Amino acid sequence: MKRPPNFNRVARIYAPMEKLTFGPWLWRCRCCFIRELKTQRSGLVLGDGDGRFTANLLEENPLVLVDAVDASVEMLHKLRLNAGLRSARVRVHLADARAWVPEGSAYDLIATHFFLDCLTTAEVAELARRIRAQASADAVWVVSEFTIPDNWFGWLVAGPLVRALYLAFFVLTGLRVQRLPQYREAMAEAGWARIKEQRLLAGLLVGELWRAQ
Ligand SMILES: C[S@@+](CC[C@H](N)C(=O)[O-])C[C@H]1O[C@@H](n2cnc3c(N)ncnc32)[C@H](O)[C@@H]1O
Repeated sequence: MKRPPNFNRVARIYAPMEKLTFGPWLWRCRCCFIRELKTQRSGLVLGDGDGRFTANLLEENPLVLVDAVDASVEMLHKLRLNAGLRSARVRVHLADARAWVPEGSAYDLIATHFFLDCLTTAEVAELARRIRAQASADAVWVVSEFTIPDNWFGWLVAGPLVRALYLAFFVLTGLRVQRLPQYREAMAEAGWARIKEQRLLAGLLVGELWRAQ
């Protein structure tokens, strides 16, 4: 297994960089199903980064406890700061999510925002199978991802943009993956069913809600 990318260098500038390049859109994408996450009690957020989504989740759902996994110590530091007093409901795990074995009981909420794109299709497949085994029967999984629509916008804009983002993250973090994984197929084969999706920015971004089958 190759080393995970090193996001320590970008942890401080990650949020401002995001706002500068995508304005509010990545944030809207992460939060498009947040209202449907009010009853869950045991959350697992993989590749949580600076934890802005987790902070929002803790605010919207006052009873949820979260396991947050990330390979970057600096990102996890930011996550604790962003969660503020609510960080008492978060357990942070500095780990490679591809190899991390949860100690906890069945998760009823899994979240991966702009994280699956750091993995290969085979890695997503393995992860989705492992997480399915750790999830409750009624678990939901929220996904945010970049996509390349199969139309002129995809060929002329989204495709080149995604390639440029991969190149930038290769330079900044050493991310080896250079193409979007076929995560939908991988998740479906692992026992997850997509029940909702919301497309943003002409289909460049997608927010999805999946349920354990
Ligand atoms: C593109 S950032 C997304 C962060 C956050 N989820 C968001 O929505 O902004 C990817 C995050 O995944 C983490 N990451 C990448 N590969 C990882 C791995 N194999 N195991 C754990 N964390 C990983 C990085 O450290 C980084 O914080």
